[in-house]
Amino acid sequence: MKIGSTKVNGKIFLAPMADVTNLAFRMLCKKHGAALTYSEMISADAILHDNTRTDYLGLSCNEEKPFGIQLFGNSADTIAKASSIIEEKYAPDIIDINFGCPSNVLVKYGYGSALLNSPEKIREVVSNVCRKVDTPVTVKMRVLPDIKKTLNIASIVEDAGASAITVHGRTQAQQYSGKADHEYTRNIKDELSIPVIANGDIVDGLSAKYVIDYTGCDALMIGRAAMGNPYIFSEISHFLHTGKQIRPDCTQRFEDFTEYIRLLKKYDIVKYVDLRMHAKWFTRGIRDGRHVRHAISSAKDTETIIRIMEKLFVKSY
Ligand SMILES: Cc1cc2nc3c(=O)[nH]c(=O)nc-3n(C[C@H](O)[C@H](O)[C@H](O)COP(=O)(O)O)c2cc1C
Repeated sequence: MKIGSTKVNGKIFLAPMADVTNLAFRMLCKKHGAALTYSEMISADAILHDNTRTDYLGLSCNEEKPFGIQLFGNSADTIAKASSIIEEKYAPDIIDINFGCPSNVLVKYGYGSALLNSPEKIREVVSNVCRKVDTPVTVKMRVLPDIKKTLNIASIVEDAGASAITVHGRTQAQQYSGKADHEYTRNIKDELSIPVIANGDIVDGLSAKYVIDYTGCDALMIGRAAMGNPYIFSEISHFLHTGKQIRPDCTQRFEDFTEYIRLLKKYDIVKYVDLRMHAKWFTRGIRDGRHVRHAISSAKDTETIIRIMEKLFVKSY
């Protein structure tokens, strides 16, 4: 499929996730078949102020292509200026704008999903960014309680020049609770001509197939199910091609974890990552996982965490 001028080979994407989707983790997901990956959300204000953390967030490499950078902000002018800097500095294949983050801290200042209450501001943001950059621009939004308002926002996004739209089937008020509802995504897909990417509670081959069939969407985006489980992309692709379920065994989980550490070191980003948290995700569903998570909590350095993980996987295997 194509998103604007960007060619994407496949339809299972990795969601942008703050403190999760660093370059090493994204490369691991790519290895397992994620067709498109996004950076964590980056503040447009921080880009303008040359905050050094943005260099870590914007970091990518040739093998990652295609790769998207996601921006959040509350001013059309700032987001457009930041997009232009991002295009020049990091050359992503897609620039995504966040209209979905429900965090109270951000919403209070008019960022993320707060913008869903101001359709005309959304038009201004998207059209300003599209005018400013040649890179295809996409949007990630949540649904609103009202279908008409949801469709209105989606149409504005398309009219303003976006090349694709991702729809998370939860409202701002739901945050991450309840079940994602893909009905509005289906309505948006019926209404719009640009690619529509469905997101929310896609956790395995069965749920992936259900959402594709139900919404008719062009692609799927996987968030939490990928945390500590980059193999999810192989699993879903396999199911969509064969109808058969495969699960990662302990050897696979350990292989993925050690590869993750290798990549973190290769890109020199260990210092930015809360490895304790990531290691714990990799132990989910594994026998003795609870004890290991406890031991990891008090580990002081990367090498100790790796040793604890080695012991777990050797034992489970
Ligand atoms: C830890 C975490 C961080 C997230 N950070 C972002 C982000 O930076 N930008 C964004 O658009 N969505 C973010 N999200 C939302 C996800 O991209 C996704 O929309 C949401 O988790 C629903 O998909 P899922 O049910 O597959 O997890 C985040 C979610 C989680 C759990």
